[in-house]
Amino acid sequence: MNGKIGVFDSGVGGLSVLREIHRLLPNIPTVYFADQKHVPYGPRPHAQIYGFVRQVVEFLIEQGAEVIVLACHAGSAASLYPLREAYPHIPFVGIEPAVKPASIATKSGVIGVLTTQATADGELYRKVLTQFAQGVRVITQVAPRLVELVEAGIFGTDEGKHIIADYLDPLMAEGADQLVLACTHFPFLTDDIVSVTQNTMALIDPGLAVAKQVQRVLPAQFVPSDAPHTYFTSGDALAFAKALKILIGITAPIQTPT
Ligand code: DGL
Repeated sequence: MNGKIGVFDSGVGGLSVLREIHRLLPNIPTVYFADQKHVPYGPRPHAQIYGFVRQVVEFLIEQGAEVIVLACHAGSAASLYPLREAYPHIPFVGIEPAVKPASIATKSGVIGVLTTQATADGELYRKVLTQFAQGVRVITQVAPRLVELVEAGIFGTDEGKHIIADYLDPLMAEGADQLVLACTHFPFLTDDIVSVTQNTMALIDPGLAVAKQVQRVLPAQFVPSDAPHTYFTSGDALAFAKALKILIGITAPIQTPT
């Protein structure tokens, strides 16, 4: 029997990664888990996030996941290293702030990283800064209210754009020309962000790079199959079904774990 790719996030953000996995690896079945009972992860301590992530990982393994994608920066910051130790037989694909491409592309020498607290506090972030941001000025902006906007499905409103502007005005004032979207919820705000920045910053969405990494680690026994993709939330199934349709155009039944 074919294994599945398990993909999870605290909420709907990981769908920005899932859509790239579906594009790159059509016909490889996926199982997505949104831990909306506990969203947001970003303001929580790492130990608590790791506790939630362990439960999600156990569940995904029960559902047949043989490769697991942490489509969540905060979840990766709190869990990637300990998960690899706890489950040595499972390939885990984590996600780290995309500082490398931003540092390569910047002309002004200033980049912004839009993220959440748990990611900003993590070792993964410290590591990429040391490795890739030498000689570049990095401004870290923690933006928890943007997670709330995406979870609530608030797009294209003046209120949302004001919130975005409050976070991004200081970065624009400092001349940042790259904006790393270091939270998987944020690519869904692209239109609103661009309307605030007026294209003064290039937005870096790591979704495709993560999908390519999934392709690289996919074990050989994964073969194309017409098994359906499946979707779970620990929160409200109807609300998640609506978000799935609006955000990535998929209509599918949503299950809740029992
Ligand atoms: N989508 C998540 C991330 O990439 C987390 C947002 C949150 O739950 O705070 O970090």
